[in-house]
Amino acid sequence: MGNSAFTFHPGPLRGSVGIPGDKSISHRALIAGAASAAPLRIANLNPGRDVRATREALAALGASIADDDGELVVARGQLTSPPSSLDCMNSGSTARMLLGACAGANLVATFDGDESLRRRPMEPVAAQLRAFGAEIETAAGHLPMRLLGRPEVETRAFILLAPSAQVKSALIFAGLFAGAAVTIEGDRGSRDHTERLLRYLGAEVEWNQRSVSLAETAVHGGAVEIAGDFSAAAFFITAAVITPGSAVIVRGAGVNTTRTGLIEALQSMGAEIELRNRRTICGEPVADIAVAASRLAPAAISADVALRSIDEIALIAVAAAFAPGTTTIAGAGELRNKESDRIAAIARLLGAVAIESGSERGTLRIAGGKPAIPGREIATLGDHRTAMAAGVLACAAGPIAIDSAESFEVSFPGFAAALRGLQPA
Ligand code: S3P
Repeated sequence: MGNSAFTFHPGPLRGSVGIPGDKSISHRALIAGAASAAPLRIANLNPGRDVRATREALAALGASIADDDGELVVARGQLTSPPSSLDCMNSGSTARMLLGACAGANLVATFDGDESLRRRPMEPVAAQLRAFGAEIETAAGHLPMRLLGRPEVETRAFILLAPSAQVKSALIFAGLFAGAAVTIEGDRGSRDHTERLLRYLGAEVEWNQRSVSLAETAVHGGAVEIAGDFSAAAFFITAAVITPGSAVIVRGAGVNTTRTGLIEALQSMGAEIELRNRRTICGEPVADIAVAASRLAPAAISADVALRSIDEIALIAVAAAFAPGTTTIAGAGELRNKESDRIAAIARLLGAVAIESGSERGTLRIAGGKPAIPGREIATLGDHRTAMAAGVLACAAGPIAIDSAESFEVSFPGFAAALRGLQPA
C-alpha cells in the first residue's frame, strides 16, 4: 500500500475475522529467544514492521534467527556489540526493551529510529538502566542513544518512574541478560506479557499489579505460540459496536486484562460484547470476542481502565462520539508521547465529523452526539493506530479519506482487506 491517500467506506460489519499475532508479545518472544541457550520456535509472530525492527536488531547483535515453515527459530548465538547503529524504525518497544537486554548483556550499541521515534522520550528508561549500572548517553533525552556497556550491576531494586510496561520490561530483560535478580516496585497494573512469557519459558518470576521480582534465573528454549493481538481486535470490536446492523466475531484474541480496558470502557457505555471459547495459549488468556451494534451512553472512564487500554484511547473516543452527552477519559496525558501526539490525533479524528473534544490535565472530554458526514481528509502523521481508527469511524459516520495507509504495515499489514472482508458489498 503506497504513500498516497486512502478512503475507508461506511457500512455494517458482519461475520468473523482473524487477527495477527500480538505485537507486544512478539517483541518479547524474540528477545527471550535471544536470552536462551537452546532455540526457541515462535509461531504466529506479528508480521508488522515494528517486530521486524526487533528481529533485525537482534540479528545485528548476533542472535541467530531463521524462518522455518512459517515459524521463526531464535537462538542466542554469540551476542556481540554491533558495528553500526541499531535501527529501531518506528518502534518504541524495540528501542526501550532492547536497551535493557543489551545493558544486561554488557554490550556497546547505538540505538536510532525514524523521525517519530526520535521525538519520543528515552530518558525514563535510560535513567533507570543507569541506576542498574549501564553507561548511557542520549541526545537530550532522545535518540540517537548510545549504550557504552555496564561495568558492574549496581542497583537491583527499582521503583518505576512511570507506569510503563516498556520500561518495566527493559529492567526485567536487563536482569535476565545479566543473570542478576531484580525487583521492581511502583507498577500500576501495566501489561504483564514479559512476566507471563518468562514464566512460561521456565524463569523464576513473581509479580502482581504493583511489583515484579525476577530471581537469578534463565529461560529454556522450546516453542511458543503468540496470542492474537487485542489491539488489532479492538478496531473491529469498536467498529461493530458503533455501526448499526453489525454483528462480528473476532477469533483468537488475547484477552489479558492488562490489555482489555477497551472492553470494560465500551461495556460501561452499554456495548454488547461477549467473550466465548476462553482458553490459554502459552500463559496468555485468549477468547473469541462476539460483538453486536449497541446504543451507547456516555461514561467516565477511569485512569486504571485507560492504562489498560493505552493504545485504544482513540477508539474509546470514537465510540464516545456516538454516545450523546459528555464522556471523560482520565489518565490520557501519556498519549502525547506515542507514535504521534494522540491527543491531537483524537481532536483531528473527531473534528472531521464535527464532534468537539478537548483535554485538560490529562483528562480527555468528548461531547458526543450525532457525528456529521465526514468532511476533510484526516492527517495521520504516519501513526498506524490513528490511520486504522479513521477506518473505524468511517464504518458508522461515512466515507473518510486519510493521507496515507502506509502505516498499517507497522502492526497490521492486512487491516484494510480484513475490514473490507467484514463489510458485505
Ligand atoms: C507496550 C507498552 C505501551 C504501549 C506500546 C507497547 C509494550 O507503552 O503503548 O504500544 O509492548 O510494552 P508504555 O509501556 O510506554 O506505556
